[in-house]
Order: sequence, then structure tokens, then C-alpha cells
Amino acid sequence: LFSAVEMAPRDPILGLNEAFNADTRSTKVNLGVGVYYNEEGRIPLLRAVAEAEKARLAAHAPRGYLPIEGLSSYDSAVQKLLFGEGSSLLAEGRVVTTQSLGGTGALKTGADFLKRLLPTAVVAISNPSWENHRALFESAGFPVQNYRYYDADSQGVDRAGMLADLKALPARSIIVLHACCHNPTGVDLSLDDWKAVLDVLREREHVPFLDIAYQGFGDGIDQDAEAVRLFAESGLQFFVSSSFSKSFSLYGERVGALSIVTDSPEETSRVLSQVKRVIRTNYSNPPTHGATIVGNVLNSPELRSLWEAELTEMRERIRGMRMAMVQGLAEMGASRDFSFVARQRGMFSYSGLSPEQVERLRTEFGIYAIGTGRICVAALNRNNLGPVLNAIKAVI
Ligand code: LMR
Repeated sequence: LFSAVEMAPRDPILGLNEAFNADTRSTKVNLGVGVYYNEEGRIPLLRAVAEAEKARLAAHAPRGYLPIEGLSSYDSAVQKLLFGEGSSLLAEGRVVTTQSLGGTGALKTGADFLKRLLPTAVVAISNPSWENHRALFESAGFPVQNYRYYDADSQGVDRAGMLADLKALPARSIIVLHACCHNPTGVDLSLDDWKAVLDVLREREHVPFLDIAYQGFGDGIDQDAEAVRLFAESGLQFFVSSSFSKSFSLYGERVGALSIVTDSPEETSRVLSQVKRVIRTNYSNPPTHGATIVGNVLNSPELRSLWEAELTEMRERIRGMRMAMVQGLAEMGASRDFSFVARQRGMFSYSGLSPEQVERLRTEFGIYAIGTGRICVAALNRNNLGPVLNAIKAVI
């Protein structure tokens, strides 16, 4: 049965974790996977989460099955976070939201549903994009293409290239867009760029799929939802995958959501019924713990403001690390200008390091980064910054 099974390549992101865990050097630093570490180099357990967990434990809550679409108090809290408290779409009943197994689960559920709706469509992702986007949509049966996005010369967005590529795609293609904190580059579209993209999507009748895994890590909860809100006002139908892995530091709990904007409440109920079939035949119904905690935090004014303060703290610490990295490398007389790192948003920096330089960082210095040169700035702290910058200076 298995004699012809070939060895699959290691996952470019999670596979690196395996190599990091096996590394015995005490000075090793993991700048690979997108995980926020605090100043002590640990994944924080947010106080808002700990409070909500204490209350849940004390309540001795039963662990029955959740509805297929997940916890309704969680689903509606997700909608308000994405679309805004006063969203007319929500008031009109035009958004379907289902709890998902992280942002990845939302993408896969959305992809499987789209495959039934648009079986011959092409999916387009940014060049570059999160490594798993291509794999996910291909595994749902779609051909996946790239649209131009990152401009290495300006370390910004290739707006003209992106718009031209979106125009050239077959009508009704599925366009995956990073709503904020682009992974891996940290380079986002401006509001003006978003408007231009939206015009092309409308003209070509493309189906937008906004992926928002880092809301609150860029400029703030509402600021980071700017693109989602712009699309909400556009009258288009679109998909949104969202995640609390990062913003709640609940990576392993797999807490995400898939939201789909429809044209009417009647459409909403038909779409929901079909998404539920996709979920039921994949994993039946979602787990209780993470979504209960996130829902309880978002729905409690005290816990919510505590969470917002903790999220701000994480965002500002990452910004501080970006500045420290830029300053440190300049002071060391690094042979390259790294000031672009301070302009990037979110957890990642597309550092410009080559695959060979990344390889040297790992083998010579025990510093792990993605082969594309993506480094997780959120894993830097005052203790590991010096050694990391020295190593970067050495390999460039
Ligand atoms: C990342 O890009 O490192 C994260 O989103 C984690 C993952 O699942 O790849």
C-alpha cells in the first residue's frame, strides 16, 4: 500500500519549527514561525484570557457539541470586530459567520465551498504570499496563480503590476488579499491602493477573499479592518478568513472564523446551510474552549478593555523592536540600509536576506528564518537582539 508513497517536503514554516526544536544550541533564536514572544522570550498567556479561563473553570461548564457553525456569541463578536459595531451589513443580516479551526480552517472551508460554486475558477494570490495559501487552494482543487505585489526595488507595493495582473485574470477569479500586515512582506496597500483594487475586482467580477490573521498588530483594531470595511461598503459579495491565534496568543486552540458577505438575509441562510455541510463533512463541529474564551472576552466590557490594552502592548513592543533593529544595524555600520523594516507592519519583515544568507544564519548562528528571507520581528527581544543583529551583519 505504501511502497510508492514518496517523502513529502518539509513544511516551509512549521517544518522549520521541527528543526529548531531539534537544535541543541542554547543560543538558538526562532525567527521562523509567526508567533509573538514577549520580552522574556515566552509566548504570553494574556491576562484577559487567564481571567476568562478562571471563570470558565469555576463554572464547571459541560462540553457538549457546539452547533456546526460554532458558538453564536463568538460568531457575532467576530462580526462586530471585523465589520464594526454599527455595520449596516450586520443590521441587514447579510453576513454569514462560522467558527473555524484557526484562519487556515476558515480558508479551507471557504475554498471547499467556492469549489462547489465556481468549479472552473482560477485563484490568484500575491507574489509573494503566505506559503500555505497556494497549497490550501490547490488542495481544494483550484489552479493557483500569482499577481504582482511586492516591489523589491522600492520595498513597497507594485501597484501598477498588481492592477494589471488582476485585470488580466479570467473574469470571476478568486482573489486572495491580505487585509492587513501582509505575510510575509509586512508591506500593506494604502487606502487609495485598496480603492483601485476594488474597482478592478468589481469590473472583472472577481471574488475577493480577504485574509486577516493579524488584526490589531498593525495600527489598531479598527485601523487594521479598514480594507474589510471598505469592501463592506462596496456592495460586493466577498469572503473573510480571520484568526485569533496571534491577537489572543491562542495559537494551539485554533480559534478563527469564516465570514461571507451576501446580498440578503435570504441568501445568508442558504449560504450558511451549504457552509455547514462543508464543515460537517470535514470535522463535524468546532471545539468549545478557545472560542468560548475569545467570545467571553470580547463580550465583557472589562475583559475586552484588558485585552485591548494587552494587544496594544504587543503591537508597540513589535514596533519598538523594528526601530531597535534599524538603529542597531545602522550603528553597527551594516553594509545595507534596513530603514524599510520600520515602515513594515505586523509580525514580519521581508528582510531581503538571500536563501544562502538565511542558511548561514541557521547553520553558523542558530538563528532560524524562512528561506524567503522572512523574519518574525515579534520574536526579537532586548536579550536576543544583539546576537541576531551581529549575525545579520556577518552574513550580509
Ligand atoms: C506563519 O505564517 O508563520 C503563521 O501564520 C503560522 C503558520 O501557520 O504558518
